[in-house]
Amino acid sequence: MRLYIVSRNQGKIRELSYLSREHGIDLVPLDIPKVEVQSESIQEVALYSATVAYLTVRKPVIVEDSGLYIKKLKMFPGALSSYVYKTIGIHGILKLMEGVRDRDAVFKSVIALAAPRVRGVKLFQGVVYGTISEEPRGTGGFGFDPIFIPSGYTKTFAEMSIEEKNKVSHRAKAFRGLAKWLIKNCGKLLCHDWK
Ligand code: IMP
Repeated sequence: MRLYIVSRNQGKIRELSYLSREHGIDLVPLDIPKVEVQSESIQEVALYSATVAYLTVRKPVIVEDSGLYIKKLKMFPGALSSYVYKTIGIHGILKLMEGVRDRDAVFKSVIALAAPRVRGVKLFQGVVYGTISEEPRGTGGFGFDPIFIPSGYTKTFAEMSIEEKNKVSHRAKAFRGLAKWLIKNCGKLLCHDWK
């Protein structure tokens, strides 16, 4: 089965490609822009982007939208994570967290699927709880990985291999939900014919 993905984030594509292979899915990046609405909801952003992508290419397509939500910053940066990463970045976030003892945070991911015979757009969600480290650690991954320590671990995401991150990450959980749903519904969707 082939699925297309709209994203220019190579970190996301790499993680999702690993997960796709585990489920026998051929994930192919599409070179079209991810059209994004401005919204505080990553669900709304993913839903809209997947709709536009599907109307453009008419192929089975997924879009992933995600964000980091920090409790003591009133869940900032949330849906603005990509913009905040590009502007104040990791060091800006650590500055805002100076002297803050409660460092609880959560990463959320939404994968939106739009495909032939799928009614509307299907959304699959995943979350991972954790804390914000005192300083950046590790060189792997992307985005806020060097400052996020998932619950039950001492390493940041950037200190983990991609396989380790995929065991617990928000994105992996959302993807597993998608894979499970596809397996269950593949018969009526004729998804083995998706090309
Ligand atoms: P978007 O989903 O393309 O809007 O971007 C989400 C942004 O959230 C990314 O650019 C990162 O800054 C951050 N982010 C989302 N997921 C992760 C992750 O797994 N690791 C690190 N940063 C992430």
